[in-house]
Amino acid sequence: MRKQIAAANWKMNLTLTEAETLLNQLLATEHNLTSNQEAIFAVPAIYIPLATLKLSGKSNFFIAAQNCHPKSNGAYTGEISAPMLASVGVKHIVIGHSERREYFNESDAFLAEKTDAVLAAGSTPIFCCGEPLVIREAGTQNTFVEAQLINSLFHLSVDQITKVVIAYEPIWAIGTGKTATSEQAQEIHAYIRSVFASKYGQAIADQISILYGGSVKASNAIEIFSQPDVDGGLVGGASLVASEFTAIINALK
Ligand code: 13P
Repeated sequence: MRKQIAAANWKMNLTLTEAETLLNQLLATEHNLTSNQEAIFAVPAIYIPLATLKLSGKSNFFIAAQNCHPKSNGAYTGEISAPMLASVGVKHIVIGHSERREYFNESDAFLAEKTDAVLAAGSTPIFCCGEPLVIREAGTQNTFVEAQLINSLFHLSVDQITKVVIAYEPIWAIGTGKTATSEQAQEIHAYIRSVFASKYGQAIADQISILYGGSVKASNAIEIFSQPDVDGGLVGGASLVASEFTAIINALK
């Protein structure tokens, strides 16, 4: 049975004091995750030690990084590598968020290298894909997303692909308050699964968790997560409000 995951992406938000307050508020609530469910917090790298300390002992809670560099070490000023993150206990790394693709020109080939680096460090890539509005309006989102997956992930072995978590995030739904309908989410999640099935076989595709991201909130999480091919969410804005994100965790199947 594949994992059901509520992943918070704090992006570049919160001061230290605000981060601590949010973590304290999250900890004040009881979360009853089953063995099949995970809550993941992609915090700004500078808050990883704080979040690790605060959430230690909470079973099925994990800290994630929002990015890493493909090289293990070297003269890459300002960058953080996957082995460095693993050495401080961070074993989940978001790769290829649309904001990094757009603002930092991260290409499919570069994201393939990053994915390899995360897997080589023994960690889990949370690999993001998703189309801009013009592609959705043209109705070619399936082939657009398929190309992202083929270009960055199809070189992976069967063993490696089962370690990857996919996050489908339509760019037009990120931070806009405009969510894909649950039918739209299900349709493209099923398509993404079929893309993996065509390459790796249905049994392997059925093991891959595919998260939906884009204006997920407490009020829509249950409906979106209830779709058969939606295995949870990657959440931006609503993950900065403890009550919202708690409700989103509790909406997992
Ligand atoms: P919002 O939930 O704020 O739309 O952001 C989604 C996202 O980009 C998560 O990675």
